Amino acid sequence: MEIQLTVNENEYAYEFHDEDQTLLSYLRDVLHLTAAKNGCNEGHCGACTVILNGRAVLACRKLLKDLDGAHVSTLESLSDEESVHPLIYSFAKEGAVQCGFCTPGFIMSSKALLDQNTNPDEKEIRKALTRNICRCTGYVKIIDAVKSAGQLMRNNTLRVDRKTILPDRLVSVGESVIRIDSIKKASGETLFADDMYLEDMLYAKVLRSPHPHAKILKIDTDEASKSSGVVRILLAGDIPGENSFGPIKKDQPVLNDRRVLYIGDAVAAVYATSEGEADAALEKIRVDYRELPPITEISQAIADGAAILHGEDNIIARMESGRGDLEAGFNRAELIIEDEFHTQYVEHGYLEPESCIARLNNDGVLTVSVASQGPPMDAHEIAPVIGFPPDKIRISGMPMGGGFGGKEDISVQIIASLGAVITGRPVKYTFTREESISVSGKRNATELKYRLGADSGGRITAVEIDIAAKGGAYASVEEAVILRSVSFAAGPYTIPAAVVKARAVYLNHAPACAMRGFGNPTVSFGSEMMMNMMADSLNLDPIEFRLKNVLEPGKPTITGDRPLSGVGIKSCLKAVQKELSLYRKPEPREGWEIGIGIAASYKNVGLGIGMDDSAGASAKLLPDGNIALHLGSVDMGQGSDSAMAQIFSDSLGWPFNLITVHSADTVRDPLAGMTTASRQTFISGNAVLKLSVKLKERMYSLIAEIYDVDKDDIGLQDQSFIVRSSGVVIAAISEFIDALEEKQISVEAEADYSGPRTSFALIEPEKGYETPEDGRLHAAYCYAAQATVLEVSRKTGKVNVLDVIIASDVGRIINRASVEGQMEGGVVMGLGYALSEQFVQHEGRIVTDSYARLGIRRIGQTPGIKCLIIEEPHEQGPYGAKGMGELPLSMGAPSVSHALHDALGIWVKSIPAVPEKILAELNKSTEAGV
Ligand code: FES
Ligand code: FES
Repeated sequence: MEIQLTVNENEYAYEFHDEDQTLLSYLRDVLHLTAAKNGCNEGHCGACTVILNGRAVLACRKLLKDLDGAHVSTLESLSDEESVHPLIYSFAKEGAVQCGFCTPGFIMSSKALLDQNTNPDEKEIRKALTRNICRCTGYVKIIDAVKSAGQLMRNNTLRVDRKTILPDRLVSVGESVIRIDSIKKASGETLFADDMYLEDMLYAKVLRSPHPHAKILKIDTDEASKSSGVVRILLAGDIPGENSFGPIKKDQPVLNDRRVLYIGDAVAAVYATSEGEADAALEKIRVDYRELPPITEISQAIADGAAILHGEDNIIARMESGRGDLEAGFNRAELIIEDEFHTQYVEHGYLEPESCIARLNNDGVLTVSVASQGPPMDAHEIAPVIGFPPDKIRISGMPMGGGFGGKEDISVQIIASLGAVITGRPVKYTFTREESISVSGKRNATELKYRLGADSGGRITAVEIDIAAKGGAYASVEEAVILRSVSFAAGPYTIPAAVVKARAVYLNHAPACAMRGFGNPTVSFGSEMMMNMMADSLNLDPIEFRLKNVLEPGKPTITGDRPLSGVGIKSCLKAVQKELSLYRKPEPREGWEIGIGIAASYKNVGLGIGMDDSAGASAKLLPDGNIALHLGSVDMGQGSDSAMAQIFSDSLGWPFNLITVHSADTVRDPLAGMTTASRQTFISGNAVLKLSVKLKERMYSLIAEIYDVDKDDIGLQDQSFIVRSSGVVIAAISEFIDALEEKQISVEAEADYSGPRTSFALIEPEKGYETPEDGRLHAAYCYAAQATVLEVSRKTGKVNVLDVIIASDVGRIINRASVEGQMEGGVVMGLGYALSEQFVQHEGRIVTDSYARLGIRRIGQTPGIKCLIIEEPHEQGPYGAKGMGELPLSMGAPSVSHALHDALGIWVKSIPAVPEKILAELNKSTEAGV
């Protein structure tokens, strides 16, 4: 079949043989126009939006056979080397671009809107963008960006000159500067892993178990091996090295040939010359299974005689912590309350499905191009499987379309690496959305039991907590997750007596892994529910009750840690309290009730617990005046590359537009460990500060020598070095570079930073819960508080969140717009956790198997969000800054549940608080005559 179509004003004739081929596949795989992204290929995410005959459409839903004579515009048509469309500029300028994977789709939907109406109101914008999902921003800044672009267009600005976009001056810490990577992301120039096409490349596909628990009896690949385009099929026995991987326990087979433990367990890998051929071959592999009963509940896993999935007792890990005399604490209490809570599994839902390309270089080094949160760790996980030493593996970090913890674990890397090593050809392996949902790790589900005592004055005297966590088929980092749950289980309060016990179990489910908050959002639900219930029982204002118990500098947490500086929880609560006092509560609509709920939380910044927490940074002055800043940290959309450039610009005085950041390549860049635990602002930020001191010393020494000036009197101003005391110009940056070239001198430096010493101060029961003298569990914490205002229908149980007030203690703002973006994105993700998001498995089989079924919030559900940024500097943070990106999620669920209580008088103790649960609680309270 042949069609003619026009794409970005160019005419094409295309002959195709697959009548199901989509416009998206044609644009990406044939024309290699990759701005339109493949986020789901099912019409659920909007990342593929293009303009077809003047209308925004989802390219993954349009079949080529229907498009003869069509005119298509893609994002590539909205920029050239010199300039960009106002939408591209405004998305970057307003901070609407984080990971950037959704951005092309949003911009094309916005373009179709603004082409009709350059002055849309907010309702019209939300309507036009309703098919586009953003997992990072919370949508607030996207709406601002569309308004701002419309304004530019009304002022007849049709293009914005690229040279004017990044400031050509020092940018101070605290400024809302445009991110260095945002124009490239917004214009579609940023290449994600799946956007790369290499010569002679093979495509990998994996046959996965259709059963949650089954014994493999036989695998037959004969017919599949003869399938067209197939170069190689691998089974477990073909793996040259160890057939196991895992970040803490190597308990997961790369390819399983014995007993599969979840839907998604890998059984065979196919490498073929096209994706379609690889898919066709998968269909021809025959596997005989004997199904086994799945273990899907904690009670089943720990029952006597239960089938054992791992170890001796199906326990992934146990943790315990405590301080003080629990019995005495409860004896002093005037009131003791007890309750149980449930939280659900959640899928990360990052817009970019996992993807990588592995290739064997002529020098015998395997290069793996992948968006990973821990590039050095990837090399160590791949190495034993392929039988290479880790230093023969280069992880080349690609831009990441969202991670949220889920890209800490290995996903596509080992399968692609095996293929590259065995076939000698480059191999691309990209998950389909369905595969990403079924295979990748989830936020764990938990069963929480709390017992809390308080005296008549509202001071908490004791807390006892039991956490049972539902893990999955393999351990992933669940052990570390429940460790953090234990640490934060009682919230940001000083409590004289506490005991927390936790255990995580293996189940025939997708593995549980890291997800934004890392064990904190689950227990924040429990602890803050208890705080609100206790305040309610004592008839105390929920904020005042918290203020009586809140952590202060030098006061201990429940693990005995005593944070000394940067303790901002009191300020957060007071800021929310003040803002609430000014808030005008809306009048309820007929049949609806309005409620306001409160929650607070705190979280570690940095790895802590005695782990090595270090990072490197290096820089080199280039002949064009740019400084190449090399970092080991991973920018997964949170803006760390840009934040580091901002710290560097401020501390060195270098123009912001002359800083180029390279990060996350294990050969080219210094190492910085895993990007997790909100640690990079603190750890890599300090490395960059040290680096700038060294580089400045080197540069100014050379200037003093070359131009015979006093080194201590040199400054930088308007792209020139000056004598600070007189303002006299010594030399322009370009002249200095010419002088260096003439003398063949290079200017470069490197620095390392190791975080403050911590220890594993979780108190071990056998030592009688005594706090070690040097017990710093974590070097720093971030703090936050939130008020959520919602309306709920008594009839349907439907909830609309109207407004959120969030205060977040970040230590010191590096980039205000980025901080707000993290807060807004976290708030919206937290509301999803509270109200709609859940990864549902029934008897080990996945129910929520598409992007549309995960309950991710859309633009129409975004409330008004008031961000109050608190700066309680940490004495060791760069400029006093701490990390903050994860915590804004944690208050969503408890504040929503509290607001439901305020509105309806019920406590919803299980999330997500879907309408059926709300109505069930309402019915219960009606029957009880409450
Ligand atoms: S890729 Fe088309 S809607 Fe998701
Ligand atoms: S910026 Fe929207 S999904 Fe990441």
